[in-house]
Amino acid sequence: MAPGPGSGADDADEGPSGAGARGPSGGGERLQKVLARTGYGSRRASEELIEAGRVQVNGSTAVLGRRVDPEHDRVEVDGIPVGVRPGLVHYLLNKPRGVVTTADDPQGRPTVVALVPGEPRVFPVGRLDADTEGLLLLTNDGELAHRLTHPSFGVEKEYLAEVEGAPSPASLRRLREGVVLDDGVTAPARASLPAPNLVRISIHEGRNRQVRRMCAAVGHPVIRLVRTRIGPLAERELRPGQWRSLSTSEVRDLGEATALKGVERERRGRT
Ligand code: URA
Repeated sequence: MAPGPGSGADDADEGPSGAGARGPSGGGERLQKVLARTGYGSRRASEELIEAGRVQVNGSTAVLGRRVDPEHDRVEVDGIPVGVRPGLVHYLLNKPRGVVTTADDPQGRPTVVALVPGEPRVFPVGRLDADTEGLLLLTNDGELAHRLTHPSFGVEKEYLAEVEGAPSPASLRRLREGVVLDDGVTAPARASLPAPNLVRISIHEGRNRQVRRMCAAVGHPVIRLVRTRIGPLAERELRPGQWRSLSTSEVRDLGEATALKGVERERRGRT
């Protein structure tokens, strides 16, 4: 196996020597260095986290001196996965209407992947309909993508839907409590009415065209649909077609959002 990044001379200036457990590869990077790089403060602060027993590697509590292979080892702080792999990129795109959420479209329509850098290759996290606008993540971070899209992690996504007519309080209540669709009743949602024909709705399922079908089911077909939030991530500055990289702390917040849902999921006895 190729040595992990940083396993060479740049590790020589580090604090306590590697007297503790070593990563499975016997090489790799010092854990505190990896944590510091991913936003957990200085190396000293990261060492304190390790000393406090708050850091796990592959499910076991790490000790100071632990080295990890960021490509293969799973690192968590307080049970929250840390995106430690170098080379991971996370883009937040404001998807314009008419652009498809695939890497390649047989019909030759513009794709979201063409709107962000081509290297390293990234893929969209979940999908928005071609006629839906708004926030979409693209990444090469398969673990985070899985957690954000798998229904059992249930990360909330918020949409603004311009609808036909003016939904009544009873319609909003139906959206909140669950609407019968042809693939079953929807889970409880949050719904409010910031303007007479504008529904703000937050859902944590990811069914096909779910918001459009929910609104249509309560008698208010969607005219325009914009995703305004993905878990903790909201963004008002990006114009349609623009993207930006997520900060380390934003990636961490996303990991945290999925970890919290993961805990609830385990409490419910699902694996
Ligand atoms: N719900 C929809 O109806 N469409 C989307 O693109 C996303 C959620």
